[in-house]
Amino acid sequence: MWVPKVSAIAREAGARLREFLAQGVETEYKGDVDLVTVADRTAEALIRKRLGEYFPEHGIFGEEGTRDRMEGEFRWYVDPLDGTTNFAHGLPHFCISLGLEQRPPGAEPGDDGTLVAGVIYDPMRDELFAAERGKGAWLNNKKIQVSRTPELAEALVATGFPSRKRHASPNVHFYHEFTLRSHGARRAGSAALDLAYVACGRMDAFWEFNLNPWDTAAGILLVEEAGGKVTDFSGGPFRLDSREILASNGLIDKELVGLFGDLFAGRNLTPIPSPQEFAAHRAARAGAR
Ligand code: IPD
Ligand code: CA
Ligand code: CA
Repeated sequence: MWVPKVSAIAREAGARLREFLAQGVETEYKGDVDLVTVADRTAEALIRKRLGEYFPEHGIFGEEGTRDRMEGEFRWYVDPLDGTTNFAHGLPHFCISLGLEQRPPGAEPGDDGTLVAGVIYDPMRDELFAAERGKGAWLNNKKIQVSRTPELAEALVATGFPSRKRHASPNVHFYHEFTLRSHGARRAGSAALDLAYVACGRMDAFWEFNLNPWDTAAGILLVEEAGGKVTDFSGGPFRLDSREILASNGLIDKELVGLFGDLFAGRNLTPIPSPQEFAAHRAARAGAR
């Protein structure tokens, strides 16, 4: 019941993003390498206006600062442009992510509710991913399902890296391990599309540290409604304010949780070349010239 209206909103905002991409936009820094553009702000303003028209009672929590009606039963998590770094460089891989949470009466601001609807729209491929709790998930009106890949060794997996406090993130070590143990680990630059791709089986799993609810709300519902599983790295229930997200096809999740356990404990790490081995490579290159 929400999906047709919110799909129209996502398509309208997506058309604006396509125009901005064609004309080119200036990039500003929110911090470190956290980029923002006029396109992010314009898309959020448009989405805020339209959500307010269609669903005047609903709350809105947007990445670019919208905090409307935060006490209400329903709340939209809005990422007006997920993949800003790609967008700012003219790389056409980004999306709009809109996820709806229903919150129990009397919930405190930090309490989690239930995700009930989600739409992720990729305006460059004209791909609209949608899900509604209990009804399934679709890509451009066709039902989607997670992959049947049975083990990590046969899986294509995805991750991302934070744009703030980059040096504090251990993820490059996890990236290293997952790359060596799977068909490959991709870092495409849009967490919401990564989750949508797990939902439709293009990817078998996705993990990331420190995402925000606007990145994940719509994608989590998509993965769950497509038959997949979303947890933290220990296999425990995912909460919207969790600092860890692990989404998978629901067949390789136990193996991945086991691997995270090993990696956090420093067990079974694949050795990286030692300084002596690097020196040997350097010497071999110099000798080959
Ligand atoms: C970012 C993207 C990226 C992820 C970052 C997010 P933004 O969102 O989803 O893939 O690795 O952690 O912050 O800033 O482009 O909306
Ligand atoms: Ca984002
Ligand atoms: Ca964003």
